[in-house]
Amino acid sequence: KLVPAGEVTGDLDLTDTIGLGELKKTIVSTAPIDGQKPGTSGLRKKTKVFMGKNYLENFVQAAFDAIKESGTNVSEGSLLVGGDGRYFNPEAIQIIIKMAAANGVNRIWVGQDGLLSTPAVSATIRERGPVWQKAFGAFILTASHNPGGPEEDFGIKYNCENGGPAPDKLTEAIYKNTTNISSYNICSDFPAVDIAKAGTTTVKSADGSTEVSVEVISSTESHVNLLKSVFDFGLIKALLDRPDFSMVYDAMHGVNGPYVKRVFVEELGLSEDICMNCIPKEDFNGGHADPNLTYAKELVALMGLDRKGNKVDTGDRKIPSFGCAADGDGDRNMILGTKFFVSPSDSLAVIASYADEIPFFKAQGGLKGVARSMPTSGAVDRVAKDLNFDLFETPTGWKYFGNLMDSKALFGGKDYTPFICGEESFGTGSDHVREKDGLWAVLAWLSILASVNTDASKPLITVEDLVTKHWKKYGRNYYCRYDYEGVDKTKAVAMMDKMRAETASNTGKTVGKYKIATADDFTYVDPVDGSVAKKQGIRFLMEDGSRVIFRLSGTAGSGATIRMYIEQYEPEKTDSLAADALAGLIRVALDLCGMKEYIGTEEPTVIT
Ligand code: G6P
Ligand code: ZN
Repeated sequence: KLVPAGEVTGDLDLTDTIGLGELKKTIVSTAPIDGQKPGTSGLRKKTKVFMGKNYLENFVQAAFDAIKESGTNVSEGSLLVGGDGRYFNPEAIQIIIKMAAANGVNRIWVGQDGLLSTPAVSATIRERGPVWQKAFGAFILTASHNPGGPEEDFGIKYNCENGGPAPDKLTEAIYKNTTNISSYNICSDFPAVDIAKAGTTTVKSADGSTEVSVEVISSTESHVNLLKSVFDFGLIKALLDRPDFSMVYDAMHGVNGPYVKRVFVEELGLSEDICMNCIPKEDFNGGHADPNLTYAKELVALMGLDRKGNKVDTGDRKIPSFGCAADGDGDRNMILGTKFFVSPSDSLAVIASYADEIPFFKAQGGLKGVARSMPTSGAVDRVAKDLNFDLFETPTGWKYFGNLMDSKALFGGKDYTPFICGEESFGTGSDHVREKDGLWAVLAWLSILASVNTDASKPLITVEDLVTKHWKKYGRNYYCRYDYEGVDKTKAVAMMDKMRAETASNTGKTVGKYKIATADDFTYVDPVDGSVAKKQGIRFLMEDGSRVIFRLSGTAGSGATIRMYIEQYEPEKTDSLAADALAGLIRVALDLCGMKEYIGTEEPTVIT
């Protein structure tokens, strides 16, 4: 039996150390570095900070210690490593390989070229390998949609054996370890692995007692194979082959490019012309790889829209029938039709209403549960009520959905799967993995379009047709979000504190034409494990069902970002411009929070 790499059993004498050769473990002394507390999605900092002495090493060691303390035997199974291709990814991967070997990991899988999208990580953990090789977890090197490059952001997050982000308990343990770390383990002599080539490098100790393998794996295989089992690719192909249908996929120079090519060019036979910005770049080509109307400028213009989602005069230029985009790490999505923007909240509702057209759901007896984050509009609530799904309203952050998906498997509770969930922040997905999945959302939309367009002799039913039909049936939840990025943190906190202090006195008040039925700070009690999440957003719930919500972002790079969410439900009048329908409520919201007074401006940096 092989002993874990770098572990020297018995007394550490010179012979043992020499015997280990390239697997010799060096214990490097270090000291805690402030601020290594993971946020909503892992630890994110300026790249320069991550490149600083011991910064990455401290965090990775703290993570290994916490993983082992949680009872995981890292010598069994595999550790998966990959990232979104941003600057410092290759160097970080080599460091993690050397540290993994020194911490007792015997099998490491690395995505080819270091690339793995966040949903692909989740899929690979869950799907790849025989039981004894299955990944016990993964390090994902990404700061998601934040810009990349030496002057921009870098990030690292850890996902567990179920494929989902580390739960709070684990991230807290990691953080605690970063505050009292005194050394880290590394096999400094471990050879650099060529991550550009698929294949396995095996490193043996000089005396043959130990061996560590690093396998460079296909970035796309596990994920794409899973998606092929979720959707009917033949049906989708029939839609894509219609002469009156055309599409474009903007990967924004993030990690999704190779996945788009694999699915749409290799599997579905489209020409490479559909691939926009599909070459991953370490700085995302200087762009902001976030799929929304503001940042996906090129796609938005191509689809005949302005940054507010309004139709633009494009003369007789032919506009594609379908446009979509992904963020840096491929978990977010934006869906567009010809001159038509689908808000993420509406996207979730439409997908839920047609879910049973998708083989994954149909085969399991139909969709059972749906969930949305609290600030996401209530459009999906109406579908849930109509079709009798379990419905959950969770705090912002994908991890809250994971517990619901694993309720039965991990907690012995009720089974809510098959399950669909989504967030206003352009995240949509299901329980096929434990992360949001941009590619899944796109394929879900194409499946739905395919299922209503099987007769090629009839005119194409478009994205806009589907959404307007949905509004006719369920009414429309007009929705928008204003972001105030990079504002002074003290002032932002003061603004939130003031609203929090006034929740009781605001309840029952009339503001403009609205009566505040409830003002509160959202608290979530997890129905699966009973854990409580407090201070999840100030809500003003109006008597007519409209809502105004304020949160501070948990993913802001520097300073603070205030998010203001506006929602108004209209049962009948569903064809207004969102900006017009919401103007009155936006005015009320700005007055309620005192934006001008605290922040000095009412002009948001981004509107979505
Ligand atoms: C990440 C998380 C999402 C979350 C989003 C916005 O993408 O994975 O679950 O909705 O960040 O978070 P924020 O705290 O910035 O509003
Ligand atoms: Zn992302």
